[in-house]
Amino acid sequence: MTEEIIIVEGNGTLQGDVPIAGAKNSALKLMVATLLGQGTSVLSNIPRISDIDVMIEVLERLGAKVSREDHDLIIDTAPVNSFETPYDLVSKMRASISVLGPLIARFGEAHVAMPGGCQIGARKIDMHLAGLEALGVEFDIDHGDLVATTPHGLRGTHVTLEFPSVGATENLLMASVVAKGDTIIENAAREPEIEDLADILCEMGAVVEGAGSSTIEVHGVSIEDFHPVHHRTVGDRIEAGTFLVGGALSGGPVTVHGIDPSFLRMALLKLRTMGCDVECGDDWIRVSRDKPLNSTDIQTLPHPGFPTDLQAQFLLLAAVADGISVITENVFENRFMFASELMRMGADIMMEDHHALVRGIDALEGAPVSATDLRAGAALVLAGVVAEGQTRVYHIEHIDRGYEDYVGKLRSLGADVRRVAKDSI
Ligand code: EPZ
Repeated sequence: MTEEIIIVEGNGTLQGDVPIAGAKNSALKLMVATLLGQGTSVLSNIPRISDIDVMIEVLERLGAKVSREDHDLIIDTAPVNSFETPYDLVSKMRASISVLGPLIARFGEAHVAMPGGCQIGARKIDMHLAGLEALGVEFDIDHGDLVATTPHGLRGTHVTLEFPSVGATENLLMASVVAKGDTIIENAAREPEIEDLADILCEMGAVVEGAGSSTIEVHGVSIEDFHPVHHRTVGDRIEAGTFLVGGALSGGPVTVHGIDPSFLRMALLKLRTMGCDVECGDDWIRVSRDKPLNSTDIQTLPHPGFPTDLQAQFLLLAAVADGISVITENVFENRFMFASELMRMGADIMMEDHHALVRGIDALEGAPVSATDLRAGAALVLAGVVAEGQTRVYHIEHIDRGYEDYVGKLRSLGADVRRVAKDSI
């Protein structure tokens, strides 16, 4: 397929209503959880993005039958007859490592390629492995592959995570639900996507309590007690937050629909602090602004702290706010590449280790820039909407990993933005 780029003309316009898709970072895990159901499950509100396509390939490689009807995925995992996930798939998408827990739960063993690093950091899995070992899993490494076995079966345990890792919490959850006895996961991740995963596991037959808090208790049941389900994915809080930042940038009003506002408390607090008006309903959030943006300081932290996946978007807000903001990235070791691209558009940012000191300027200038990860890419397009002149965003495959029809949604809000084949310009 010919490489495309996104071209944005800085018309400063983003206003209207936009539907929010299902959460990428939940959907991917719900998909692998169906491996425990051993029959045909239906997942609804699944976003049409390339990461989902990769996870479909992971499941099909294991032997599952997957079909898609609009935003529904129909997944039959009865035919699954393999517990191998090779490097060519894991290297495409780190989240493939989420198959580890359910494969061990279902087969008592798994062969999964070790994930490499990516643009935002080394992406280690030491906490995944330590937690699973506490459940009785033994690991060997064979030419880059993790070879997991459970010679004495999975047994309940009391494990404390060194850091509330989302992925480690999820793998531990999906393995411990069939362990013999009870498991307590302390210092568990509290993201809404963890609750969504615990919900589908319980719907399938698991006994999980405390998901969404730092202490999750699992009472192991037999895998024979699991059955397929129909489950609807929660809304994507990061997609919603991205469009709300668009409303804050342009003045809006921008209203996002299909999202639980409680997922975004810290981000909405920061938008208010920066001078935005924020209104919420049961499943919608509206942002508008009729006065200058105030600077603010941000520390990214595990949920319910400020989400690292909105750091780039808020760094953009700070770049055109009045005054000086300090943005501190505490979750990933290398997530400021976006700042370097924004400086090409005139932003005044000084980076020191995990801190970015941002001096607000009046206006950004359009420029050719490159997406370094999906959130940075989405933020660069927003920057182009409010910049003077034209902005060309390269490597938009990153954006397609996590945003369904991003250009179409921005155009529906009045942005002058389009995708063109790179070699057509
Ligand atoms: C999930 O990644 C999300 N991805 C990320 O979203 C999100 O930024 C992250 O959680 C934090 O909220 C998916 O759900 C597919 P972690 P995950 O384990 O599970 C370190 C996006 O933009 N760590 O909480 O990989 C790790 O290196 C993506 O949609 C270890 O050191 O995040 C990182 O610095 C980007 N050892 C930090 O912890 C481990 O064993 C947080 O990682 C595990 C993690």
